[in-house]
Amino acid sequence: MIHLHHVTKTYRGSWKALDDVTLQIAKGEFVFLTGASGAGKSTLLKMIYMDERPDLFRGGQVLVSFGRECVYDSKTARDSDIQKFRRMLGIVFQDFKLLDDRDVFENIAFALRVTGYKSSEIRSRVFELMALTGISHRRNAFPHTLSGGERQRVAIARAMANDPRLLIADEPTGNLDPDNAQRVFEILRTINERGTTVVMATHNPNLYGAKTFRRLVLDHGRLASKDLI
Ligand SMILES: Nc1ncnc2c1ncn2[C@@H]1O[C@H](COP(=O)(O)OP(=O)(O)OP(=O)(O)O)[C@@H](O)[C@H]1O
Ligand SMILES: [Mg+2]
Repeated sequence: MIHLHHVTKTYRGSWKALDDVTLQIAKGEFVFLTGASGAGKSTLLKMIYMDERPDLFRGGQVLVSFGRECVYDSKTARDSDIQKFRRMLGIVFQDFKLLDDRDVFENIAFALRVTGYKSSEIRSRVFELMALTGISHRRNAFPHTLSGGERQRVAIARAMANDPRLLIADEPTGNLDPDNAQRVFEILRTINERGTTVVMATHNPNLYGAKTFRRLVLDHGRLASKDLI
């Protein structure tokens, strides 16, 4: 599903954030992405959701495919393609990025409202997602009244609204205590068991240390290992 082929990324005026990274992630996998601060984890995820592209000169290539007819190529994708591509992804960040002036229900419903679903369909989908993430009891609450764990569960529900085939999470447990981190991880695991490919960057050895899934390790932009379990 995801192919990085000799990917190198140099930000303006800095060292290589990614240096000749080649890897593949198969459909249906759950993969951890680890490495010290500054190792290039967020940059690698940005390559996958094409927020950044490889260097033009000898920067390599990123391919993300959702079947033979639906392949996004970092070398050829136009901005309009990228917009379409993003709708097939769910993305979760460490700092939640919720809409402060909308309640939990509306934060999750937001992505569905623009896609033209009927309001009864939106309602049942949002209730399903709130049940999945254990947030139903807070459906009328505004983000500033939620705990960190609750906010992240809303962010995950929102990311799953369009039933993405690929979920990308950049340190989704970075701001959470161990119990909440574990709970968020379990939700991502359930999402993966239901068929969504999940790529999760994390510093948290309690999660990847359980040796449940493959781990990619970055070290100063280089892939130090891609087969650790
Ligand atoms: N927009 C940018 N402009 C210039 N340099 C950048 C930019 N984004 C990241 N970098 C640099 O690229 C390198 C990799 O950064 P990246 O954010 O990918 O690391 P990370 O592994 O996600 O770190 P952290 O664990 O702290 O989130 C760092 O040296 C960082 O300073
Ligand atoms: Mg990062």
